[in-house]
Amino acid sequence: MSQGPLCAVVLAAGKGTRMRNALPKVLHDVAGRPLIGHVLQLTVELGCERSVLVLAPGMEPVERAARAFDEGLRVAIQDPPLGTGHAVKCALDELADRGTVIVLFGDTPLLSASTVRRLVDAREARDAAVAVLGMNPPSGEGYGRLASDAEGTLSAIVEYRHADEALRTSGMCNSGVMAIDASILRELVGAIGLQPEKNEYYLTDIVALARERGRSCIAVEGPWQEGHGVNSQAQLAEAEALWQQRRRRELLDAGVIMPAPETVWLSADVEIGPGAVIEQHVVFAGRARIAAGARIRAFSHIEDAEVGPASTVGPYARLRPGARLESGVHVGNFVEIKNARLGEGAKANHLTYLGDCSVGGGSNIGAGTITCNYDGFAKHRTEIGERVFVGSNTALVAPVTVGSDAIIGAGSVVTSDVGEGSVALSRAPLAERKGAAELLRRRMRRAKEEKRG
Ligand code: UD1
Ligand code: CA
Repeated sequence: MSQGPLCAVVLAAGKGTRMRNALPKVLHDVAGRPLIGHVLQLTVELGCERSVLVLAPGMEPVERAARAFDEGLRVAIQDPPLGTGHAVKCALDELADRGTVIVLFGDTPLLSASTVRRLVDAREARDAAVAVLGMNPPSGEGYGRLASDAEGTLSAIVEYRHADEALRTSGMCNSGVMAIDASILRELVGAIGLQPEKNEYYLTDIVALARERGRSCIAVEGPWQEGHGVNSQAQLAEAEALWQQRRRRELLDAGVIMPAPETVWLSADVEIGPGAVIEQHVVFAGRARIAAGARIRAFSHIEDAEVGPASTVGPYARLRPGARLESGVHVGNFVEIKNARLGEGAKANHLTYLGDCSVGGGSNIGAGTITCNYDGFAKHRTEIGERVFVGSNTALVAPVTVGSDAIIGAGSVVTSDVGEGSVALSRAPLAERKGAAELLRRRMRRAKEEKRG
C-alpha cells in the first residue's frame, strides 16, 4: 500500500475556445461562484497537503480569483499549453513524490469531496497505479471512453474522436478525474507521446503506459452529474441547472420549505435554516442568510443579506448587500433595502427605499418613504430610533437622525434631526377653491378643441 500525502493538480491552462468569448473559461460562474472556485473549495475540503493550479501565461485574473478560495495555492505556468499530460508535467516540481496525486479539471465544478475521497481510497486499497473516475451520463458525446480488458480491468482511455462505435456505446465516460500514485506519475508523465493530430500530450495515455509496465489501473464509477464538464455556454447552463437541482434537494432534505423548488435560484454561499419558507421564484445571490422560520415570499431578490427568525420579506422585495433584518421584521412589496439594519418587529410594508440606515425595533415606515442617502457625491446615513412612526411619502434627507417614539407626518421632507418623542411635519398648506373644478374642466375642454381647430 502506498499511502502518503494527498496532493492536487488543477488544470486550467486551456484556452476554452469553445466558450466563444474573452472571459477565461474557469472564471464563468455556477451559482455565482467561478468554476475554479468550486474546484478549489473541493481541494480545501479534501485537506490536500498541496494544491497546484496550472495556468497559461497571462492568466493572472484566474490566479487572483483562485487565491480567494485557497491562500496556500501553488501555481505552475504551462507555456505553451500542449495538452493535459503536458500540463501535469509542468506541475511536477510542486508535487510530493510519495502518496497520491489527484488530477482535477478547472472546468468540472460539480464534483464532491466524498466521490473524490472514494476514488483515492480505492486506489490506495488496491495499490493501483491509476484510479479513474468513470460515469454514465445520458449523453456521453465528447467524453473520452474507458476501455477494459477481458478481465474487466481498465486498460486504456480512448478520446471520443478516436473511439469506435462499440467503445462509445459500451465504455464508461472519462470524467477526467484521476488519482495517481505520485511516484508512478513522476516516472510515466514524461513517457506520454505526442498526439500528432492535435499536437497535444494526453494525460489519459498514462493508463496504457502503466499497464504496459505491468501496473494495474482501475475505474470507479461516480454520479454522472458530478463529472459534468463545461466546454461551451450550453454545458455551463447545464452545470448551473444540475448544481441548482442538487442544492435545492439538500435544502429540502434539511427541512427548508419550498413549494416550487424548481423556481428558486440559490447561490453557492446561501444558508437557509430549517422551517424557513421560500416561496416561488425567489433568487438568492452572494452570502444570503435566512434564519429558521423566516418567510421569503414570491419574486423576491436577496443578495448578501440577512433575514432573522419570524421575519417576512416580499412578495417582490429586494434586499441588497448589507441588509440585515432582525427578528419579526416585515418587509413588503416593492421595498428595496441596502446596507441597513431593521430592528425587531420593524415594518416597511410598501414601496420604500431604505439605504445606509438603521431602523429601531417596533418602528413603522410608511408607504413611499425614501432615505435620500446620496447627494451626488457621497453617501450619508439615516438613523431612526425605536417605535418611530414615519408617515407615507416621507423623504428623509441624510445625514439625519430621528429619535425614538417620534412621529413624522405623511409627506414630510425631513432635512434636520427630529428629537425623541417629537412630532415633525413639513407640509405646504392646502388651498381649496370651492366649486372650481367645473370651471377648470370647461377651460381645458375649450383649449383642447381650439388646438384641434
Ligand atoms: C478531457 C479528457 C476527456 C474527458 C473530459 C472530461 C484528455 C485528453 N481528455 O477532454 O477524456 O472525457 O476531459 O471532461 O484529458 N488543460 C490544460 N492545459 C492544456 C490543455 C487543457 O491545463 O494544455 C486543462 C483545461 O483548461 C481543462 C482541462 O485541462 O480544465 C481539460 O481540458 P479540455 O480541453 O477541456 O479537455 P476535454 O476535451 O474536455
Ligand atoms: Ca473539458
